Amino acid sequence: MSYSLDGKVTIVTGGAGGIGSEVCRIMGKHGARIVVADLNHDAARALADELGNQAIAIELDLASEDSIAAMIATTLDHFGRLDVIDNNAALLTAEMARRDGDIEHMATDDWDATYRVNTRGTMIACREALKVMTPQGSGCIINTASNLALQGNLIQAAYSSSKAAVIQMTRSIATSHGKRGIRANAVLPGLTGTAAALSYLPGELRETVEEETLTPYLGTPADIAHLVAFLASDEARYITGQAFAADGGTSVHIPGFARLSRFFQS
Ligand SMILES: NC(=O)c1ccc[n+]([C@@H]2O[C@H](COP(=O)([O-])OP(=O)(O)OC[C@H]3O[C@@H](n4cnc5c(N)ncnc54)[C@H](O)[C@@H]3O)[C@@H](O)[C@H]2O)c1
Repeated sequence: MSYSLDGKVTIVTGGAGGIGSEVCRIMGKHGARIVVADLNHDAARALADELGNQAIAIELDLASEDSIAAMIATTLDHFGRLDVIDNNAALLTAEMARRDGDIEHMATDDWDATYRVNTRGTMIACREALKVMTPQGSGCIINTASNLALQGNLIQAAYSSSKAAVIQMTRSIATSHGKRGIRANAVLPGLTGTAAALSYLPGELRETVEEETLTPYLGTPADIAHLVAFLASDEARYITGQAFAADGGTSVHIPGFARLSRFFQS
């Protein structure tokens, strides 16, 4: 199916990262005008340069309310409107991945830091976007959660629950603002082969996830970006309030059955 994002002004938070940069490229190819918003301003600027005059870079710290408000204001100054926001940025450092374990050992500061970016920051970005989209009578919000928000996990208790809150926030927005022309959906990637994710995931955990993934391969950033781009298009106009896992089926089956499928096929 072909679709167009012609002229749609789109903010991608964390737009310089592994998945975010592919969202920028793929939405840009479909004609969207792109705001690459990222804490890493050099990388954001480099990507905006690559995309040409349909894109700008904005330095964003999702932990700061002022920074989020400034991102929206700069977008309006430059493009005059806001059609889509892809809330993709999250607190994802090797250090946090190491510290974010189970609840018994959770440092309150780590919990707060995770929620400050992933949940509070995403909420503020949604709120500030809605202030523009509501008077326009149109808009599309896509929030990035994770398939880890759906199931119990041995580690990353703060990260996974912060993402579960993002899914519920998305449903709330869809419910409160659907009649005002605004759609909100959540995208839930499974383990996706970004440089960062692969660098801090312990080898044994990666092997387990690979084994529990029903597809013969792990996802790539482009696999997530194509879903985001379609959800942003007018062809997805009847889709709202949904949480779409793009995880090769990792979250939909009884654990262990991916491995057992070989036995039943023989
Ligand atoms: N890669 C995976 O396996 C995977 C799996 C499930 C969900 N996700 C989700 O997908 C999204 C993108 O992940 P990724 O793998 O591309 O990560 P990444 O680390 O490659 O990119 C994240 C980007 O966000 C930016 N960022 C971090 N903190 C920020 C802040 N406070 N303000 C603004 N920008 C900030 C970083 O600079 C980086 O460019 C995240 O929401 C993540 O939770 C990723």
